[in-house]
Amino acid sequence: MNGVLSRRAEGIQLLRAHEEKLSCPHCAQQVTVSEEGRIACENNHSFDVAKQGYVNMLTHAVQSMYTKDLFTSRKTVLESGLYDDVQRTLASYIENGAVVLDTGCGEGTHLARICEKSGAFGIGIDLAKEGIIEAARHYKKEAWIVGDLAKSPFPAATFDAILNILSPANYDEFKRLLKPNGRVIKVVPAERYLTELRQQLFADSEKESYSNAQTVARFNEAFTHVEQQRVTTTMALTPELVPHLLNMTPMGWHRDETKDITLSHITIDVDVLIGTYK
Ligand SMILES: C[S@@+](CC[C@H](N)C(=O)[O-])C[C@H]1O[C@@H](n2cnc3c(N)ncnc32)[C@H](O)[C@@H]1O
Ligand SMILES: [Zn+2]
Repeated sequence: MNGVLSRRAEGIQLLRAHEEKLSCPHCAQQVTVSEEGRIACENNHSFDVAKQGYVNMLTHAVQSMYTKDLFTSRKTVLESGLYDDVQRTLASYIENGAVVLDTGCGEGTHLARICEKSGAFGIGIDLAKEGIIEAARHYKKEAWIVGDLAKSPFPAATFDAILNILSPANYDEFKRLLKPNGRVIKVVPAERYLTELRQQLFADSEKESYSNAQTVARFNEAFTHVEQQRVTTTMALTPELVPHLLNMTPMGWHRDETKDITLSHITIDVDVLIGTYK
């Protein structure tokens, strides 16, 4: 009981220390965080810090297709080291002491590791409560928020960097949230992303390869200065990791499609897009 209570208290303490980085998602007013863990604006909209130390700031109920099971598999895959090169690259664009928002942060491992490497302070936001609960359970230095990017609970010009890793983006909102000279750092799959898996699942269909051209073009339209960096890693797989790899996306491969899959190694191939807006 004590442990559960103290995790909530830790979450409250962290959110109180950073309350100026939060705003009301209903009316955009500034909020205060009370010692009791109530986040409230002057118009009496309020949100309570949960016992796991995160806060749900959604303005409406949301049905997520991302399950607890999916986030557990994602965490296992992320902890295997498969995305270490990606995380290292992202951290290299973030300065010590920066304030970073991870949009669509999922179970939080990317953000926690990137903050650790760069010396930044991180806030993670995701629509899926199951992901945020996992994040808050494991990572205590970052603030974790259930929320919708379309109605985000942050004031304008709050962040030095915005991460957007394999998640949907909202560029107008990102521009509002960035400090002057801040950066959006977006990760999109490139042609050979999970290619060994695609080859077996989608042989000879158009899904076998993947083009990010449209996403990259939209990013280039949204920002004034854009850099692009390819990160490619191929890693040997232990047999235990294979089911987690299949389970970590909601794209829904059916069981009968995946039962014959054998994978000895897997490739992560992504483009990192770094954009500034002046
Ligand atoms: C493929 S997952 C990626 C999660 C994490 N970035 C990672 O790489 O492990 C996409 C995430 O985006 C979140 N998401 C989708 N739409 C969102 C929105 N409007 N606001 C916040 N999060 C959103 C989903 O809930 C999901 O966790
Ligand atoms: Zn309000």
